[in-house]
Parts: sequence; structure tokens; C-alpha cells
Amino acid sequence: MTDRSSDSPKFETMAVTHAEQPPHHERAGDVTMPIHLASTYEAGGIDPDVGLEDLDPDENQYLYSRLANPTRHALEQRIAALEGGDYGMAFASGTSAIVATITASVTPGDHVVAFDDLYGGTKTMLKDLFRERLDVAVDFVDARDTDAVSDAVRDETALIWMETPTNPLLRLCDIEAIASVAESVDATLGVDNTFLSPYFQHPLELGADVVVHSTTKYLNGHSDSIGGAVVTDDADLADEIGFLQQVGMGNMLAPFDAFLTLRGLKTLPLRMRQHESNAAEIAAYLDEHEKVSTVYYPGLESHPQYDLAQRQMEGAGGVLSFELDGDLPDVERFVAELNEFPLAVSLGGVESLIEHPASMTHAPLTPEERAEIGISDSLLRVSVGVEHPKDLIADLESAFDAIE
Ligand SMILES: Cc1ncc(COP(=O)(O)O)c(C=O)c1O
Repeated sequence: MTDRSSDSPKFETMAVTHAEQPPHHERAGDVTMPIHLASTYEAGGIDPDVGLEDLDPDENQYLYSRLANPTRHALEQRIAALEGGDYGMAFASGTSAIVATITASVTPGDHVVAFDDLYGGTKTMLKDLFRERLDVAVDFVDARDTDAVSDAVRDETALIWMETPTNPLLRLCDIEAIASVAESVDATLGVDNTFLSPYFQHPLELGADVVVHSTTKYLNGHSDSIGGAVVTDDADLADEIGFLQQVGMGNMLAPFDAFLTLRGLKTLPLRMRQHESNAAEIAAYLDEHEKVSTVYYPGLESHPQYDLAQRQMEGAGGVLSFELDGDLPDVERFVAELNEFPLAVSLGGVESLIEHPASMTHAPLTPEERAEIGISDSLLRVSVGVEHPKDLIADLESAFDAIE
């Protein structure tokens, strides 16, 4: 695990410089990592005693870009350092990072316990791929209650899969307590840390075995790249996931996207601070508004898990959701009136976005499943950007006025 103690480089420094010095630094003097587009590398000679496993990207040894690529390697090292883990792997999407991690953790006949309020795509993957096709039993539980997780685990439980805060209801689970449950049955604990980024939460330090990200969101931060990442301290798990990334699935982040994400990471701390302070202002504004019945934001004292948020997270992040006090046509009119919040899925970019989970991100769930979790037709999710908060609030205000 990377040392985050006082005398090692701070997060802000690692976000800018960790692994940035290009391997060919001495040749051209680049101060930023170039985009290495070559698909293959000169071998330098035939040596029957050197196998693939002997090639070390840290020593600038590359063979073929699917296996390892200098730009991707720099990103993998930096994300691992920021998460405080030893091994990092970058994938073509958050979804492929998740599918590789779950595949590496289970075999047919195993059992998975997962949070019932997960990103819709992850939930569909667990049901339609792992449960239906790969003979992996999956139970979804309300993991806000750690007892529900410990009641659900059994001898065959190989994986506990959590997201905290969840998408879209910003529910939390206690990572440290659930890590003890996982340990008691020798299961892997995986945590999707997309919503907070390593700037605000360190699941590995809290006992998780593996962390995943949709780098599409805050890590890249500019809504112009799809990617994913996995970080772990477990060498065996890293081997399995690395095998899937490079050979089993051949599913890795392309050099240009690795470059964009490396560049985005440099401003992660600055962006996260602004996302959070804007989101806190907007949450407080919405909380007081007569046309809003509920606000879901873990930075609000009224959030039912506010104490856990204070203990486990170093910030509340930039995503919130709220229930408009109205029906679906009101929601449609409200969204159409907004100028600063394009109606779009995804989150974590510098620009604010709004989306309607029932018809967009969580449309793959049945209406009964949505009702069971609490995703109503009047729920809207906001990814608060880094614009001036006064402009964002003025825009919301005029949309509320227009639907009066
Ligand atoms: C929490 C979370 N995890 C994973 C994903 C999937 O990531 P990607 O779209 O990069 O495949 C998303 C996408 O919205 C997400 O919100």
C-alpha cells in the first residue's frame, strides 16, 4: 500500500507529477508524458531466456501495446498511487474494469452479495451475465445496514460488491464494517469509488481488497473520454485482473484516452474541491425550496447517514439528487427550462449535467425494481460542475419559476 504519511508526497503533488516523467525523457526532454501510439516495440535481440513476464515497464521494457504501453503505464501507476494501492490497471471503460474484477474474483457456483442500489449497468451485469449465464448466485441487499450483508454471506460467498455513495440515491455503506464481514468468510471486497474519487475516499485503507473507477467521470473530469481503472494491493488478484486486461479480454485503455486521463488527473484536487463546494451550496438551496420534497446529498446534516459520511469520507462529492414536488410533466418542463444543466447521463465532468434516472440511467431496471429501491419518476440527479454557483442557482430558480 502506498504510504500517505506526512513525509511522502501529498495527493496534490502526486496528481501532477507521479509517473509523469516520460521514459524517453533523456532523449527529448519532455516534461509531460507523450502519447505513445506505437502498437509494437523493437525487441533489441533474441533471447530465449527472457519471457513476457520478465519485461518490466518500470525499466522501459515493452513488447506490444496491448500488454503494456508507456502512456497507459504512467496512468496506471498514478491512479494506483492516488488510491494508495500497489497495482493499477486501466481499461477501456468503467464497465470493463468491473467485469474484469468480478470475473477474476468468482467461478461458477460461487456467490456474490451486492448493494441493491448500484449503477444500473453494474446491476444488470451481475444479473444477466454472472447470474444468468455464468452460474454465479447473486443476492442484492440494502447494504446501508451492515447486518443485511452479514446475514446474506455464506460459505460460497466469494465477492462482496459495493458502491458508496450509490448512484443515484447517494446511499452509503460502512466499508470498514463490511470489510470485516468479507474477511470472516474469506471473500473479496470490491468497492466502486467512482462517485468520490480517491481525493475524497480511500477504500483500500478502510479494508477493501480492490477498488474500481469509471475514469470517464471525475478522474478524467472533462466528459471527453470513456475509461476505467482497477487498483489493488493483492498481488494474486492483480495477476488475474492483469491477465484478463491483456490476454483474456484484451480490453485496455487506448493511449490517447490514457493521456487525456493523465492530464485530467492533474487538476483532480482543484476540481473536486470546487465540485464539492458548489454541490453543498446547491443542496442547501434545494433543501429550502418549496418545489423540492427531498434532497439526497451526504454533505447535508439531514442525510440519514451523515455521521458515517463524516467518518468515512473526506468530502461529500459533487453529485446530488432530489425529488421534485410534482408529476412527470412537471419534471419534463423543469428540465427543459434549464440552460446550465444539459439533460445527459454521466457525471464528474467540469460542466453541470442533470439526468432523469427512471428514464435514463436506471431505465434497464423494471418499474418494480426501481420502486423497491426508491427511484421515483420525480427523481432528478445532478452532477454539479465547477461553474460559478450563483449562475447555477439562478438557472435552477428560473426553471422553478417557469413551472409554477
Ligand atoms: C458508479 C459507476 N460505476 C461504473 C460506471 C460505468 O462506467 P463506464 O460508463 O465508464 O463504463 C458508471 C457509469 O455511469 C457509474 O456511474
